[in-house]
Amino acid sequence: MAQQASQKNAKKIVVANWKMHGNLKQNEVMLTDFIATLSGLKHTQVVVCAPYPYLAQLQILLQHTPIAWGAQNVAKNEEGPFTGEVSAAMLRDFGCAYVIIGHSERSTAYCESDENIAQKFMVAKKHGLTPILCVGETLIEREAGVMEMVVGKQLDTIINMYGAEVFADSVISYEPIWAIGTGLAATPAQAQAMHKFIRGKISSLNAGAADRLKILYGGSVNPQNAVQLFVVPNIDGGLIGKCSLNAQAFEEICLAADESAQ
Ligand code: 13P
Repeated sequence: MAQQASQKNAKKIVVANWKMHGNLKQNEVMLTDFIATLSGLKHTQVVVCAPYPYLAQLQILLQHTPIAWGAQNVAKNEEGPFTGEVSAAMLRDFGCAYVIIGHSERSTAYCESDENIAQKFMVAKKHGLTPILCVGETLIEREAGVMEMVVGKQLDTIINMYGAEVFADSVISYEPIWAIGTGLAATPAQAQAMHKFIRGKISSLNAGAADRLKILYGGSVNPQNAVQLFVVPNIDGGLIGKCSLNAQAFEEICLAADESAQ
């Protein structure tokens, strides 16, 4: 009971994952709108995760606002001959506070292993970035009823390599792969069950870390379903793809989060 009460009063987090979208002009229009509409939110941390080339623009436009920013990936190595990679220290140079790790669009297209993802998680933490770790199952895995086993295994790699305490002050985003970009979000009951499983698993190993962990939901969140999803216990906010590219839709989602946290 105590945990549910503290979760309800805790700040929500809503993250825009712009994926490979945007340009200097569009971004400026969008960010100016976000600043005007979202700067007054009291119970929600808004975060924008943009492609690497635009991090300097985010830093310039957002640095004196309550809106935080971050990247969508980071190198597992700290420095060296890794052409095309971007290190955690470089992200810090551009004021990033967050970084998305292990998004399924990357792990599928670029064959990222759970071990690679775990190393990225730790390098982010080492450099003071808050990792947003994406976990989730495919439709086939859900239909086979093994979704908790799949998500549990994704978490186990990090737990076995670094211990459950690394989840304190971290973010996990439950993103069922079948819900990403399909318009078919998980139901509040489906999301609630998985979020409860995730927090319970971390809590059984380190209750303090579980209390300080935020668990977001991602996958076809829109202004309508956000209202139902954000009131569910253990859903601490959302990771938003398509609707983060539309200022009005994203702002409505952030306002729904803020309302649910009051
Ligand atoms: P959509 O909101 O477009 O389904 O994308 C979700 C996502 O992948 C967020 O990281």
